[in-house]
Amino acid sequence: MAKEKMVFIGGAGNMAGAVIGGLVASGYPADKIVATGRNEQKLADFAAHTGVQVATDNAAAVAEAEVLVLSVKPQVMKELCESLAQIVSDRKPLVITLAAGIPLSAYQRWLGAGVPIVRAMPNTPALVGTGVTGLYAGDGVSAAQKKIAEQMAEAVGIALWVDEESGIDQVIAVSGSGPAYYFQFMESMIDAAEKAGMQRADAERLTLQTALGAAKLAVASDVDVAQLKRNVMSPNGTTERAIRRFQSGGLPELVEQAMRDCAERAAEMARELDQ
Ligand SMILES: NC(=O)c1ccc[n+]([C@@H]2O[C@H](COP(=O)([O-])OP(=O)(O)OC[C@H]3O[C@@H](n4cnc5c(N)ncnc54)[C@H](OP(=O)(O)O)[C@@H]3O)[C@@H](O)[C@H]2O)c1
Repeated sequence: MAKEKMVFIGGAGNMAGAVIGGLVASGYPADKIVATGRNEQKLADFAAHTGVQVATDNAAAVAEAEVLVLSVKPQVMKELCESLAQIVSDRKPLVITLAAGIPLSAYQRWLGAGVPIVRAMPNTPALVGTGVTGLYAGDGVSAAQKKIAEQMAEAVGIALWVDEESGIDQVIAVSGSGPAYYFQFMESMIDAAEKAGMQRADAERLTLQTALGAAKLAVASDVDVAQLKRNVMSPNGTTERAIRRFQSGGLPELVEQAMRDCAERAAEMARELDQ
């Protein structure tokens, strides 16, 4: 594993904190990681918890960075990048941004041309080490730097490179927003079970464990999900009756439309944030 000095701006936040936790757990040396933030108590707690270095001075931390991970909220990203532009364009570390929605062209404007930038789109299950991160590399990112970005993403799950930046919109439609689709489905199942007379707590327990079991089975299995579904559907049985209802009610078309809407909104947001 590469051992570059990594500086995370917003390092004690939710997403960067999860990534740092994953890196340290997978053997990345904690003394090669710096997490910056503004709240000293939060940083001290984070240092005690992970063993990494912490700092409130972004510029001083970036002065030592070989890899600079940007993990502040999208609405403060422009101001942050502009405050670091001089040092970043002088040193040209690999910049990895975790921010949702902001296109590479905006970073190039804010940080200056010629900085190698990877756009990473993680999802919330990264917080429990089971994430999906879409990755897109801008011009001038070397193979070794791509490897570093990939290792970082894989510390909290799996990674997928896309060749075109628009591919990130598709990643958002599948894995970025995907956890919410499953939560919606689980919520509907829990509501329906409760309406049918089950205690809500029992309905929740059964629904969540079923979702977990189905996902584990699908990941472990060497047949596709359509076959796994057929395996549960005996002719004229209970599951077949339920699946027929989903299909005649248009669930497949609805999913397709919802994902198209999601990707369109991602592209729209990228245009809005590229101002
Ligand atoms: N959470 C997710 O599921 C998710 C998924 C995909 C992408 N992302 C992206 O990940 C990024 C971070 O999101 P998050 O949910 O982790 O947010 P978060 O928990 O609020 O973390 C952001 C961190 O940024 C720090 N910060 C703000 N301004 C700073 C500055 N000027 N200098 C240094 N640190 C600063 C904050 O530290 P203080 O509290 O000390 O100010 C905070 O710890 C966002 O761009 C988001 O789009 C998140």
